Order: sequence, then C-alpha cells, then structure tokens
Amino acid sequence: MRINGFSKLSKKDKINWLLEKYLNNSTDAQAVLLQYWNDNEALQSLHDGFVENTLSNFYLPFAIAPNFLIDGKTYALPMVIEESSVVAAASNAAKFWSERGGFKTQILGTTKKGHVHFTYDGNIRNLLSFFRKYRAKILKNIDPLQQNMRKRGGGIKDINLIDRTDKLDNYYQIELKFDTVDSMGANFINTVLEEVADHFSLLAQDALEGNIDIVMSILSNYTPECLVRASVSCRVSELPKLDGSAEKYAQKFVRAIRIAEVETYRAVTHNKGIMNGVDAVVLATGNDFRAVEADVHAYASKSGTYSSLSHAEIVDDRFTFWVDLPLSVGTVGGLTGIHPLVKFSLQLLQNPSATQLMQMMASAGLAQNFAAINSLITHGIQQGHMKMHLNNLLNLLDATPEEKAFAIDYFKDKKIRFDDLKKILEKN
Ligand code: MEV
Repeated sequence: MRINGFSKLSKKDKINWLLEKYLNNSTDAQAVLLQYWNDNEALQSLHDGFVENTLSNFYLPFAIAPNFLIDGKTYALPMVIEESSVVAAASNAAKFWSERGGFKTQILGTTKKGHVHFTYDGNIRNLLSFFRKYRAKILKNIDPLQQNMRKRGGGIKDINLIDRTDKLDNYYQIELKFDTVDSMGANFINTVLEEVADHFSLLAQDALEGNIDIVMSILSNYTPECLVRASVSCRVSELPKLDGSAEKYAQKFVRAIRIAEVETYRAVTHNKGIMNGVDAVVLATGNDFRAVEADVHAYASKSGTYSSLSHAEIVDDRFTFWVDLPLSVGTVGGLTGIHPLVKFSLQLLQNPSATQLMQMMASAGLAQNFAAINSLITHGIQQGHMKMHLNNLLNLLDATPEEKAFAIDYFKDKKIRFDDLKKILEKN
C-alpha cells in the first residue's frame, strides 16, 4: 500500500494508518506498540527524535559484565544484546582472566581515512603537478574547518593524490588521513572531504585542460590503521584441564584457533563470537555497530582470504591469546551526549577516551572468544547456551513460575531439548 507524506502524519495517525492498512485495525496490535511508550514525555520525545517515523521503542536488555581487569583497572562493562548466553560468558571469562593478570592492551594506531573519488580524462602528469602545486593551498582553504579538532589534538594528518586508473578508467582519489581524537569523526571527515572536493574542482577548472568529475566524497569505514590489540597470557598450568591435563587443553585451544585462521567457514563463526562481545559494548556506548562490523570483517579479509581475528600460541610453557581489531568509535559526539543510557554507560566506564573504549571493546571481544572456544573444545556450546535460553523457551510456552522452577530443576543435569521441555510441562 502506497502513501505520500507518511512522515508528516502525527505518531497516532501513522499507527492508525498501519492498523487500518496492514493489521485489520487490531486493537491487540495497537496495544503492543503503545505498551512501550514511555510515560516520561521528555524522554519519549527524545527517542522519537532519533529517527524519522518512530512509532514506539524497541527494548534490548542492558546488562553488565563485571570483573574486566584491563591494563590494571577493573571495569564493569555495559552490554546491550539479546543473545541469552553472551553476558554470562563474558562475565565468566572476565573473572577467569582477572585471576591471571587480566587483559593487556595496546593501541596500534588511530588514523582514519576518507576519499574524494573522482574521474579525470586528461594527462596524468598535468594532474600530478597541479596537485603538487595546489596541495598546500587546498589545505589552507579548509583549515578553518579543523580548528576545533586541532584544539583537541586531532585534525588532518596527510593529503595525497592516488592514481587508481589500474582499477577503473580515469579513476583517481584524493586521500586524506585524519585523527579524530575522542569522536568517531564521521561528520568531521565528511565535511572536510566535501570542502576539499569543492576547492579542488574549482581550482582544477582553471588550471587543467582535462575534465574533472567528482563522483563522491566520503569517509572510509575501513580503518586498519585505527587498531587495538587485546591479549591475555598465563602459564599453561594455570589453564583449565582437559582429561586432567592443562597442556592438552592449551594444545586443543591453539588448534581451534588455527582452524579459524585457515578455514573461512569456521573463521566467520569464530569472528561472530568475538563480535558478540564487541557489538554489545558498541551498542551500550551509542556507537555505530554497522560501521564497526563492516570494518572488522574487511580487516579479517586483509590477506585476501577471510580469516580469524584472534590468534594464540604456546611459547616456553606460556599460553598467549590475542585479538587485533580495527575500531573506529567515539566517546563524544553522536548519541554519546544525548541518550541517557549511553551517558550512563560512559559514566560507568569512568568517561573513557576513544582509545580507552577501543581497549575495553577489544577485551570484551577477546573474553567472548575465549568463552566460546573454551566451551567448544570441552563440553560443546549447547550446554551453556540452552541453560540461558531455557528461560526464553519457558516464556514462549507461557510457563507459570512453578513450572519454570520445576523445569530448571529438571534440566539441571540433562540436555535441554524443546520437545522434552514441552513433554514435562504437559505431564505436570
Ligand atoms: C554464538 O553466538 C557464537 C559462537 O558460535 C562463536 C564460536 O563458534 O566461536 C559460539
């Protein structure tokens, strides 16, 4: 059903239109939307304003994984996620490593890039000498845009002309490198790039004989030079035991990581497990999870083959496990100063800088990965997963509190299967 001007209708009229056109005017459907409206009108209108055509709020659990010892400080990490076993797994892994020195992190870079993508059909040597001649002028022209960012210690780090004609006829880029300090920087980068494009094409019109066509000016969400490493390490004897042997556990753990390094089918699932931890903190701190996801998976393919983001080794009886993650995130700008729960999360994390937040996110990812591999090489993933999922299944079956207590007790020492659950509820 088509409609013009949907966005101009009031919230109530939007709902009524949907109910009439798609939901048989169901009052039950209407009630589902209305029950999530917040009584606090100011808060509701804040949320309504985040995006267009908001009808209601969509809750996700806001949870905490405590005991994250990161570079000597213990944090309680806020996690927003719907998958039942993730927070429990992160908490267990954090506790385990807090007793073995905790997570150690390193910032390997903070550079982000953006590009003016353009075509030019003239002589390349003329373009190169034009760019050499006008590079400083372009930078000077756009300088006012970076005054504030400079004051905060960031700004434009470099600007270069790149010949991409080997990939596409007449295709060139002006590539800029940025440090955006504590902001994710998308608005700053895009504003600068559009201004660079304007100055560049204006100057080029007079100075070049060929045709310049600006195709687009946009940041890259691929940030392999905005990179963090998180690692954990302990003596092999401090690891859990497999068939009575910590050595056997360590060997099997490293082999599981090797499989994710060489086998893409496994690497995708393995990295998804890492992102269970990372995304949950990304969401809780109001960051852009789509950007982070795109970035991380491109980085996982940097060799040409999609591979594991984490690695492990045993050297001289020491087990070390680490992850490298490109993370372009911010602790200022965007939702960080607006969304009350995001503000709460940042306060809880002691108002971190963007690099500190990168360190926390990478630690959450590594913790999650450790928990997943630990389960996979020992009792399997379903035991923990289904234990946490049991509550969802009981809710799905409208179980009473008594039935829930009975089922939880019944499955204490048994594999949880949906059919078995239905049967025992029917019997009781
Ligand atoms: C499930 O959300 C994540 C895992 O599949 C990750 C993994 O297999 O490593 C358990």
